Amino acid sequence: MPVASARFLGAAATPGGGPPPGPPEVAIAGRSNVGKSSLINCLVHRRGLARTSSVPGRTRQLNFFAVDDRLVLVDLPGYGFAVGSEAERRAWGPLVETYLAGRPTLRGVLLVIDVRRGVEAEEEQVLAYLASLRRPVAVAATKVDKLARSAGSAAVAALGRRVGGDVPVVGFSARTGAGRDELWRVVSRWIAAGGAP
Ligand code: GTP
Ligand code: MG
Repeated sequence: MPVASARFLGAAATPGGGPPPGPPEVAIAGRSNVGKSSLINCLVHRRGLARTSSVPGRTRQLNFFAVDDRLVLVDLPGYGFAVGSEAERRAWGPLVETYLAGRPTLRGVLLVIDVRRGVEAEEEQVLAYLASLRRPVAVAATKVDKLARSAGSAAVAALGRRVGGDVPVVGFSARTGAGRDELWRVVSRWIAAGGAP
């Protein structure tokens, strides 16, 4: 999908914070340092829009990015990091869950999983939680550039079997752009499907 403009819209550091609901939103979830911000930058073709870092767990707030004022991509804080204060770690659940459970304009969640790690306990929990909320979800199996082509396809297929038939699994690389068009097709379907409001 061609993107003419993408800009930072605002952030939520406390439950219910951030910009008021507007255009349809798609949230990017995943383990700390898995490549969520890199995926956003790749989707919108802007290298430095969402801040990336080699230090895990740097993003402790929800960051909202407007794409051509017709879609908002939401960079969620990563889970699974062991750094930060106890208070910060306890704040993660309410912050993210308030958003996922209550945001009226949320149309779907892209769960980013390292293709080399696959589904671990935390991913199981997130998938079960999103299913309980009846939120549409797709998996971006990222960093396929780190595997040889055949090993990458095999790992993506194994992930697909693991998460079940109704969750699309897309092999992806922010480095090469592999899977970018397919992820946009998933996002476009969510937007076209509509929903409240
Ligand atoms: P937090 O916000 O800290 O949770 O991290 P994040 O999930 O936003 O990850 P980020 O996009 O900052 O990327 C983390 C590291 O992984 C960076 O060093 C990226 O360059 C690298 N990375 C991200 N995506 C890819 C990918 O597709 N391939 C490769 N090889 N490296 C990647
Ligand atoms: Mg990030």
